[in-house]
Amino acid sequence: MSGGIAAYKSAELVRLLRKQGADVRVVMTPAATEFVRPLTFQALSGNPVHTSLLDADAENAMGHIALARWAQLLIIAPASADLLAKLSHGLADDLLTTLYLAANCPVYVAPAMNQAMWGKPVTQENAGRLKSHGVQFIGPQAGEQACGDIGLGRMAEPEDICRYLLAPASGPLQGVKVLVSAGPTREPLDPVRYITNRSSGKMGYAIALAAAGMGAQVALVSGPVQLEAPAQIRLIKVETAAQMYTAVMSEASGQDIYIGAAAVADYSPEAATEKIKKQDGQSLLVLYKTQDILAAVAALTPAPFTVGFAAETDNLEQYAIGKLQHKKLDMIAANWVGQETGGFDSDQNALQVFWPTGQKTLAMADKHLLAGQLLGLIAERFHSTRP
Ligand code: C5P
Repeated sequence: MSGGIAAYKSAELVRLLRKQGADVRVVMTPAATEFVRPLTFQALSGNPVHTSLLDADAENAMGHIALARWAQLLIIAPASADLLAKLSHGLADDLLTTLYLAANCPVYVAPAMNQAMWGKPVTQENAGRLKSHGVQFIGPQAGEQACGDIGLGRMAEPEDICRYLLAPASGPLQGVKVLVSAGPTREPLDPVRYITNRSSGKMGYAIALAAAGMGAQVALVSGPVQLEAPAQIRLIKVETAAQMYTAVMSEASGQDIYIGAAAVADYSPEAATEKIKKQDGQSLLVLYKTQDILAAVAALTPAPFTVGFAAETDNLEQYAIGKLQHKKLDMIAANWVGQETGGFDSDQNALQVFWPTGQKTLAMADKHLLAGQLLGLIAERFHSTRP
């Protein structure tokens, strides 16, 4: 850890890594110890914290060379602008920078700094040099900063860093390009009102994350949701079905797999430019059919391996197979909605998956677990149909 206000997030990172079975040793620069006390990290890691290069006792117990040999992976979080500058120029005037020089294992950094500091050409040059030396960057993320600024510079969330670090080096979707759509769409009626649906986006986000965990390069087109996008996923935010159509179609042709998990509005009103006034009696709303994004992707030549979703309140199998055939999909994942468990707002779901030559039931489970199972099926079918 180098010094930065994001140091408090590293406590959670240590906790998460240990929960996943990792043995963690924490090295802090003197500046890092000004933000969070070493004792916190000693308690969380279950190991003594290393802070000094020139402390004879500490060096006897486990010096910088021993630490460098011990580690299978080095993650520097937070990585300050100063630290990136030092690393990129080979300076080694404290334990952390010396450890970096001595380490032979993969090195990751999670930068955290004010957005203007991250944007400065010299910081970008330093980051570029480190990337060319094989250092892998996790983040930074965009968002609100401790100093009140908004922009790119926040440290990636501990959950995202943890997933990224523990992702397999060669998963079943290594190098495969995956495009996912998620969440609801919002169809404006007038400047203040809109029609939407109960999709939370949880399933689509879990799918995007599971694909990244299997080594895929993931882009996520998302309607308005209350979820944070993981650092390693390229996020494209949209609101309406028409915007989602444009975003997906401009991305789709270069993709290997498209997974349409968004709950796209089937109909959209013509938005009034001024607020619709209350009046006596009934008010009629004219709705126009939106374009079917999924069918449009499946009709591309060549088309990516195309996976759709079918949320049904009745005749699940019949409707799902109908959509698989009618939209010319490679696979469809169907789930019941409007029932007590699973579906739209829930953290859990169950899926009935169909493809032209088979089907499989994925039992009720946490959406993250289920996403992993679904991606396993998709990877298998993708490789057997697009060798
Ligand atoms: O036909 P239905 O809307 O039930 O099909 C659901 C599937 O089609 C989902 O994968 C959804 O993302 C996709 N869809 C779409 N564009 C629409 C409507 C649905 O891509 N306009």
